[in-house]
Amino acid sequence: LHLKNETTEDLDLSLFSYAEFSIFDAANDRDNYQYTYNIATCYKEDSYIFHDTLYCLYKIIAYHCSSHQFQGFDCDREDFIGPYNTEANPRGVLAGRLNNKNISGGNPCGALHVDLSLSEGKEEDILFIIGIEETKEAIKKVSQRYFSPGYTEERLQEVKDYWRQIFDRFIIETPSSEINSFINVWNPYQIRTTFYLSRGASIYEGGIRRGMGYRDSNQDTLGPAYQLDDELHGLLSELLSFQYEDGKACHGYFKMSREGYGEDPYSDDHLWLILSITNYIKESGDTAFLDKKIPYYESTKEGTVFQHMEQALEFSRVNYGDHHIPLAFHADWNDCLNLRGPRGKGESVWVGFLYHRALLEFIELCRMTGKEDRVKKYEEDARKIKEIINSHAWDGYWYVRAFDDNGRVIGSNKNKYGKIFLNAQSWAVYSGVASLERGKCAMDMVRKHCFSEHGLALLWPAFREYDRSIGSITFYPPGLKENAGIFCHANTWAILAECILGRGDIAMEYYMRLLPPHANEIATLHKSEPYVYAQVIAGPEHQDFGLARNSWLTGTASWMFYVFTHYILGIRPFYNGLIIDPCIPSYWEGFTAKRQFRKTMYTMTVKNPEKICGGVKTIAVDGKVVQGNIVPLTSGKEVKVEVVLGK
Ligand code: GLC
Repeated sequence: LHLKNETTEDLDLSLFSYAEFSIFDAANDRDNYQYTYNIATCYKEDSYIFHDTLYCLYKIIAYHCSSHQFQGFDCDREDFIGPYNTEANPRGVLAGRLNNKNISGGNPCGALHVDLSLSEGKEEDILFIIGIEETKEAIKKVSQRYFSPGYTEERLQEVKDYWRQIFDRFIIETPSSEINSFINVWNPYQIRTTFYLSRGASIYEGGIRRGMGYRDSNQDTLGPAYQLDDELHGLLSELLSFQYEDGKACHGYFKMSREGYGEDPYSDDHLWLILSITNYIKESGDTAFLDKKIPYYESTKEGTVFQHMEQALEFSRVNYGDHHIPLAFHADWNDCLNLRGPRGKGESVWVGFLYHRALLEFIELCRMTGKEDRVKKYEEDARKIKEIINSHAWDGYWYVRAFDDNGRVIGSNKNKYGKIFLNAQSWAVYSGVASLERGKCAMDMVRKHCFSEHGLALLWPAFREYDRSIGSITFYPPGLKENAGIFCHANTWAILAECILGRGDIAMEYYMRLLPPHANEIATLHKSEPYVYAQVIAGPEHQDFGLARNSWLTGTASWMFYVFTHYILGIRPFYNGLIIDPCIPSYWEGFTAKRQFRKTMYTMTVKNPEKICGGVKTIAVDGKVVQGNIVPLTSGKEVKVEVVLGK
């Protein structure tokens, strides 16, 4: 705490610190509170508060101390807070003094009371520490180090330097200061968080239910690939080790126990591997990864990464329903669309799109890594699924979403509810299944039926009757979550689709609707933090339209960064260079970007003199014009790229 007396008087101040201690066994603390309530120990010794309950089991001592001598302390939350009070008006602070009482059983905390005189104009630093160590000697050593002059400032500087070198790998300047601050700082911060925590533990989830989500973590690698090298390799290897021999994957797993879960398969988990691995190789150039041997989850057998990928594609190739569209199994990306039914015949058109996209990525990978012999087979598979979807799933103006166990269509104009699903249109375009004409028509219909001032609803209209054959999507109130909420994650794919269609103005409009600082103006309605993406915003059919929920751990973070940098700015790592293919709003005069790619720093200037959305007219690399729109690989440390857009 840094204090400066800016008044014209000398001040006598009382400072109070407060930290709750947990019992080192969160699950037991929750399930068996009477136990922890009666076993907690917390006490003052010398100038420390120690909490060493169950030391015999965990060899951990928690502590709290201050750089300044303290006049009083509390070890019990009830003493410090007081009956009927809260952290907003703790009894200890109101009374101006603490109880100086150790506890033997109770709710442990560390609270300190430090008195301080600060004369006019004077400044002072006061340090409060909470931490854990194995012994009291270690605690004394560590805390004394922090109290030595300058030490804490140096550590803080280290943290800042750590983030600076991450942020410096991608710095942009566009006409929007909100976008600049988001892409340069906040979005990279959030994608780091989702990379490590997946959907594990946050204020919205206790951390025991889900661990690392399989599809989630694969998608979480897309955004931060430029920041992480070895760690990305590590996470992908880990994910592959939770894939079964027949190609399907666990739905999630716990890192520490190495337990996978989800024996009842989902229809999409395994396919995301193709997208995450190809993205990793394009970014890093690490083609050797394809030959790495990794065991399958349930057996002692192992396969190369390339074989794992082929097996993933195989699983979706052979598991199809009556229309020859991939089986829906328990669910696809949409956890709440549960279409399998008693016959096990529900089909997911959306998985068909993902499968097609994965095939295109895989074919490209084979071509670029000298595996030409595999190309023909996969091209044939891609041709088939594309034809099947186009003949069975086009509804006249848009693509349908699925077929249930009885062959009944979902996401069709014929339906009463859920006539149009956002993902079935955006992915029709992204997957390469839709023709330009169908793609534009489908995305126009999305605009007509799903667009709102706070973003795109996941479907329209919301379900208003329970229907077990469609699944838990029908249990949610209309306008919330998967039942026609503005699912932010899915909005990213609509932006992507608009970029592929070349409609940069619409792409930017969708992007800006969800940009968190945009919600500053509606903060009391939106409620979520203005510097992170939330999972969902209540949709137009909900009474609290505009209210955001479940911030931080969402696939939105990674995809927003990916879509903005890869498709709006159009800077895309590729096997043999950096593709430059912007799709910006026509009113932008251009932008600049500094981006690290395989140890080279690219400084790019993009000019838009004709006020168009995309289309590269010329690219000059270090002053020399190159053909096409790929900046070739180089061993140089720095490269200057000048791009002019034009017809
Ligand atoms: C949640 C889940 C994600 C799922 C999405 C849609 O965000 O974490 O895995 O795809 O909901 O149901």
